[in-house]
Amino acid sequence: MTTTFRVALIPGDGVGPEVVAGAVSVLEAAGRRFGFGFEWTELVVGGAGIDAYGIACRPEDVEACRQADAILLGAVGGPRWDNPDATVRPEQALFALRGGLGLYANLRPITVHRQLIGASPLKPELLEGVDCLIVRELTSGLYFGKPSEQRTTDEGRAAIDTLWYTEAEIRRIVTLAFELARSRRRKVTQVDKANVLATSRLWRKVTDEVHADFPDVELEHRLVDSAAMTLARWPSGFDVLVTENLFGDILSDEAAVIAGSLGMLPSASIGTRETGYGRHGLYEPIHGSAPDIAGQDVANPLGTILSAAMLLRWSLGCEDAAVAIEAAVDEALDAGYRTRDLLPGDSGDQAALALVGTKEMARVIGDRIAI
Ligand code: IPM
Ligand code: MG
Repeated sequence: MTTTFRVALIPGDGVGPEVVAGAVSVLEAAGRRFGFGFEWTELVVGGAGIDAYGIACRPEDVEACRQADAILLGAVGGPRWDNPDATVRPEQALFALRGGLGLYANLRPITVHRQLIGASPLKPELLEGVDCLIVRELTSGLYFGKPSEQRTTDEGRAAIDTLWYTEAEIRRIVTLAFELARSRRRKVTQVDKANVLATSRLWRKVTDEVHADFPDVELEHRLVDSAAMTLARWPSGFDVLVTENLFGDILSDEAAVIAGSLGMLPSASIGTRETGYGRHGLYEPIHGSAPDIAGQDVANPLGTILSAAMLLRWSLGCEDAAVAIEAAVDEALDAGYRTRDLLPGDSGDQAALALVGTKEMARVIGDRIAI
């Protein structure tokens, strides 16, 4: 009897539906090759959820995601729902899912595919050996702290956001970072602003305490401004980088420049809950909904396809299928297939490349897996 995995699909907005369709076709191809199947549950969430139900994510959507073995998400948001005075916003879906499902750890691996070195604005010699994992705390900090609101005061309008971390929240994410470092190059860089923020000083103390249990892993503390500079000057110096929610958000977009395009990068958001096959989690590309190119079949599906590989690895226990997808992505890039965002700036270098759309890129990867 073949295993049937239950995966919740959230295509979302903008290019989300196109990149998710690409990743689904690749997952189906992997299932055919490795002998498993999927039961998909598609949910209308994000801006699409606001249009359909007046809310970005309904409690029953969170529940359906909880019941699934894993969740694959495209992107949410777009200018149609951007009114700063609106009380419902597409991004609220992300927070409902991350917070509601306890997905406290966001893993964002940054690697450079050798064929894309020319697509990065960084000098090629800086990209040699880049293999970094950003571990971003995802369910606390400024994103979740209360109060968070605008007020009317005697001095006019004012607004407040709250940066709050408990030691338990810090300990669990930092512990995961150390554990992950053990299967990598055994170095953790903990990023904060300890010269200014009380929360950052607590992060440092708790990280040092956790480090006592991981004497075989090297620990470095680094201020976030310095980390931002070092990511551009010497990216290969990082192994595991662990940090709070907002710093992780900012640094991971910066790190995406290293990979040549934001469209390349996958992410996994995981919690502590185990399913029958692995850890329950949500997988999504780190890029946004890119409304300017939505519906044109030009979006890069590789970030979502590589997120699907992480889904197989982390939530479904299918390491061989995950590796096959990653190898197929490498092969497609080797063979010269490129979506628009991956073309090198210099047209002289473009001659041997095949410009393809979203669907064609997914088909090329799926065909390679089916072999
Ligand atoms: C991300 C995104 C989200 C975040 C936005 C869309 C709210 O930038 O996943 O990195 O800030 O977490
Ligand atoms: Mg972001």
